[in-house]
Order: sequence, then C-alpha cells, then structure tokens
Amino acid sequence: MGKIILTGDRPTGKLHLGHYIGSLRRRVELQNLGDYDKMFVFMADVQALTDNADNPEKIRQNIIEVALDYLSVGLDPEKCVLYIQSMIPELAELTTYFMNLITVSRVQRNPTVKTEIKMRNFEANIPMGFFAYPVSQAADIAAFKGTTVPAGEDQEPMIEVTREIVRRFNQVYSPVLVEPTIMLPQNATARRLPGTDGKEKMSKSLGNCIYLSDDADTVWQKVRGMYTDPTHVNVSDPGHVEGNAVFTYLDAFSTDEDFAEFWPEFANLEELKAAYSAGGIGDMKCKKLLNSVLNKMLDPIRVRRHEFEQDIPEVYNILKKGSDVARAEAAKTMDEVRAAMQINYFHDAELIRSQSERFRAK
Ligand code: TRP
Repeated sequence: MGKIILTGDRPTGKLHLGHYIGSLRRRVELQNLGDYDKMFVFMADVQALTDNADNPEKIRQNIIEVALDYLSVGLDPEKCVLYIQSMIPELAELTTYFMNLITVSRVQRNPTVKTEIKMRNFEANIPMGFFAYPVSQAADIAAFKGTTVPAGEDQEPMIEVTREIVRRFNQVYSPVLVEPTIMLPQNATARRLPGTDGKEKMSKSLGNCIYLSDDADTVWQKVRGMYTDPTHVNVSDPGHVEGNAVFTYLDAFSTDEDFAEFWPEFANLEELKAAYSAGGIGDMKCKKLLNSVLNKMLDPIRVRRHEFEQDIPEVYNILKKGSDVARAEAAKTMDEVRAAMQINYFHDAELIRSQSERFRAK
C-alpha cells in the first residue's frame, strides 16, 4: 500500500516562523523528495469555524493569507494537492459515521482539546462542533487514506483518536480504512520556537510573531526588539545563550554558510556561542546576524509571494482545482465506506435481487 502524506492548518491567521520551522519547511522537503504516492495539504476551515462560528470573515480572509503562505514557501500545486476542507462535504458525512464509533468520554480525555477548552474559557459552554473536532479530524485523514501525517506534538492525541476510530471501523464493518502515523518535527527547536519576547511559544495571540509575510523592515524592528539575556548588561559581561531567544532562533535557522557570509570571524554558531558566553559580544551584533539570516531565508519566499499576489484569481483557481481533485479522492473512499456500512442501497445489485426474491416468495 502506498504512502499518502496529509496535513493541514486552521486558517485563523497568517503563518509565522514557528509554522515554518515546525512544519512548512519539512513539507516542502517531503514534497520535493517525492517519496510518496500522493500528498495533500489543506486549510481546515471547518475546524477553524468550530470556535469561530460568529466570525466567518476572519476565516475567509485567512484562507487567502494561508494559501499565499503555502505557495510562497514552495508548496507546488503540481506536486501536492492544495484544498479547502469545507469544499469536501464527504468529510462531514464521514464525521457523522465516525461519531458512532467513539464515546464521549474518550473524546473528553484528549489533552490537547482540554488545554484548548481552558484557553478559550469554554468550560461550561463548549460548542458541540468544537468538542467533536477530533472526530472530524479523523475523517479528514481517513477519507484520503492518509498514512503519514506531518504535524506537531500537540496533534498526537488527534492521530491516536484517528487510529482508534479507523481500527474500530475496520473491525465492525470491513477493512477499508488505513491507520495513519504522525511524523513529528525532527528536533526540539523545530518543535517549539519561542516568541520574539522569549515566551515559550510564538503565537498570534501573544503578539510575538515574525510572519512569513513580514517585509524586511518589519523583521528588523522585531529582531531589534527581541528578548535576549537580561543579565547581559554590558558588552563585556558574560552572556547566556540558554533561554536567549536570539540564540534559539540562530539554532533554528542559521547555517555555517551564513557565518561565512555574515560574520566570518566565527566558523559556526558554536564558536559564536562560546564567545558570547565568555563576554565581549554585544546583543546588537547578534541581532544583526539573525536579521541577515532571516532575510536571506525570507527573500525568496517574498519574491514568490509577490508573484502570486499579482494574480489572486489564479490562487483561488489553484485551490478550486485542488479541491476538485481532493473531493474525487474522498468520494472514492466514501463509496467503499458506504458499501462496508451497508448503506449503498442503490448500488448493490445483490441487495435488490435478494430482496425481490424474499418478497416474491411470500
Ligand atoms: N488540528 C490541526 C491544527 O490545529 C489542523 C488539522 C485539521 C489537521 N485536520 C487535520 C492536521 C488533519 C493534520 C491532519 O493545526
């Protein structure tokens, strides 16, 4: 059986460096390696609406933002199918059937959903759709027979629920669906990039993001204001690289070539870290280096974004085409699902034949 890569994002905001390092960069690598049979990347607008029901405009605006982010980082509609979740009504149908295969208490045990409920102060008033989104996410994956889901650690509970539902479906009906596995980011920095303020996580609600769509000036303003080491007051003071966001970003993004290009005094980050720890290296110089590193990475992304921005109808067209392809794929799985569940009344010649016999014999 083939390898089917599938992943997606909620279109609730523009994508930032945390998304890039945690997932987007890897997706583009996977796409270009070509070691898969099919690859699907989608915008989970249905899931985004589960806690934004009263704000559809926000989701609609972010569909195009995320689409531009996808295309500008190098996701290529020739190689991977880019689509919008709501355009695949088969997913809603599969969600409905999946709801019968899992219990309320099992869904309640999901640690990611628990945290989200707290964060949103939903405790007493959880929208039903929000509560059920892990089930809908299982449908997102199973409808495409996804085998490999590149995603962050926070998605592990969703994949576990998916596996359980798929297993149960295959056991109760017949083995038509596939149990996926999660593909986690390769290293710790990729798993959680801190914000520019040094807080644990880069996140829109904390206002500590560098967006892929930020221009060079904006990036410099943000880098210049970054949290470093509060005990590093004078240049000559020894500095700390642990918990110093500038160094965490350099860990995530800089290469030895960057040093050769922007700060040849040091061969690599380890050397700079040693010098910074010993004292004598100013924060501003490190920030300038980081700024150069980030802009070098972001420049080609900006060029591509600019091109796509000149032809927005084409961007929608790409999503429309991708959605058509995705829908056809999901429809194929749903034919098998309905047959397995014995709800394919009009497509089962044997059913009609045996029923006519039964009633004729009376
Ligand atoms: N829950 C994911 C997120 O918040 C988005 C998502 C929805 C997803 N369906 C998916 C990710 C299926 C991977 C596979 O980012």
